[in-house]
Amino acid sequence: MAMDIFKITGPARLDGTINVSSSKNAALPIMAATILAGGKNTLIGLPNLSDIAVMGQLMESLGCKKQVVDGNTIFDTSVIDKPFGDYEIVRKMRAGICILGPVLARCGKVEVSMPGGCAIGYRPVDIHVRGLQEMGAKIELKNGYIVAHSNGGLKGANIFLGGAFGSSVLATANILSAAVLAKGKTIIEYAACEPEITDLANCLVKMGAKITGIGSPQLTIHGVKELKPVEYKIIPDRIEAGTFLCAAAITRGKLKLKNCRLDHLWAAVNKLRSMNVRIDEIEDGCEVECDSHIDATDLTTLPYPGFPTDLQAQFMACLSLARGNSVVTEKIFEDRFMHVPELTRMSANLRKEGPHVIISGVEKLTGAPVMASDLRASAALVVAALAAHGETIINRVYHIDRGYEKIEEKLNAVGAKIQRLSI
Ligand code: UD1
Repeated sequence: MAMDIFKITGPARLDGTINVSSSKNAALPIMAATILAGGKNTLIGLPNLSDIAVMGQLMESLGCKKQVVDGNTIFDTSVIDKPFGDYEIVRKMRAGICILGPVLARCGKVEVSMPGGCAIGYRPVDIHVRGLQEMGAKIELKNGYIVAHSNGGLKGANIFLGGAFGSSVLATANILSAAVLAKGKTIIEYAACEPEITDLANCLVKMGAKITGIGSPQLTIHGVKELKPVEYKIIPDRIEAGTFLCAAAITRGKLKLKNCRLDHLWAAVNKLRSMNVRIDEIEDGCEVECDSHIDATDLTTLPYPGFPTDLQAQFMACLSLARGNSVVTEKIFEDRFMHVPELTRMSANLRKEGPHVIISGVEKLTGAPVMASDLRASAALVVAALAAHGETIINRVYHIDRGYEKIEEKLNAVGAKIQRLSI
């Protein structure tokens, strides 16, 4: 089977304007939530990504009908008659677990394969299961599937969603989606506060759900009997935007990002400013410029509004070329350092010690053959390759295609030299 690779020739200096796509991680649970409102739901501007295509396939396998009209995607969820998330689809993507709450709430039963996704460490689903059990669901794990019954209908409950690592984004999405149709009042304590959860909550409210505390760690939901189909525009992708901020910084470039919400990116913006990168807010986006060197800094990934784990790898690429030493600490996923050996192949000076990576800034990165291992690690390799001297070959580009829409077209339009080749 042919596989795509990227051939990137550097160093480049980026200059120009990039339009940021809609958020993949907001879109996935919102797509699943359309199951709650039987009828024609229109999602505006879904990004054209393989994860979104897989989710569409999963929705269709449940009985939903999908149609694209004028770039908007209509999910007709009038009939959901196969409450079954097949291993063959769900193994491709962690977010397949997003159907658990909505299908259980709508159909009273669901079987979903244990999810797949990026190889970034052990990723259990205990918080999802525990939350639904507290709403009265009967759940067992059978032959690799989560088998859930609502036991005569889900009931409101007080649910503490904290886990060993803090809260869980997709577990919050699942419990919130299930609670909107449950009998009575649900309080979710220690809910994830990520903008993608806020977007889901706003979409559910537009469908007729009664939710208060949106954006805070305590969500209160008063169950309603039914929801109505919705037309909804997804928020911009903060992780794609953050990746382009890093690309501008590392190439000592200047970019204007359109459809970018800096209010979702304060932790990253604050870090970049401390690294000698100028970022100014403009209407519908921002301008970013780095005209001399990058300064070293330390960063620790944390749940929102802390520094996002999904930008850790891209920042490490930038810090590889900084003046001085930096320490990056990963607190969300225990093994999210697959990019470290690959960046080292490109002459970065990195030393991993448990959950920390110590970075001694180097003068110059050099092109090398490297392997994309997961979505954000792959984005870090693209960022590094833009600044590296010579040619970088990135294998297994399908990881990047899961989460970045036309990344080579967007970057080439502002001065990068990226070729996609099929081998
Ligand atoms: C989502 C994002 C992912 C991001 C992550 C953290 C999507 C599609 N993916 O993933 O890009 O990196 O949030 O911001 O939106 N955990 C448990 N038990 C559970 C669930 C999670 O222990 O039942 C742990 C995980 O192993 C991890 C931590 O909680 O250590 C956070 O994971 P979680 O927030 O659930 O990540 P996802 O929602 O899967």
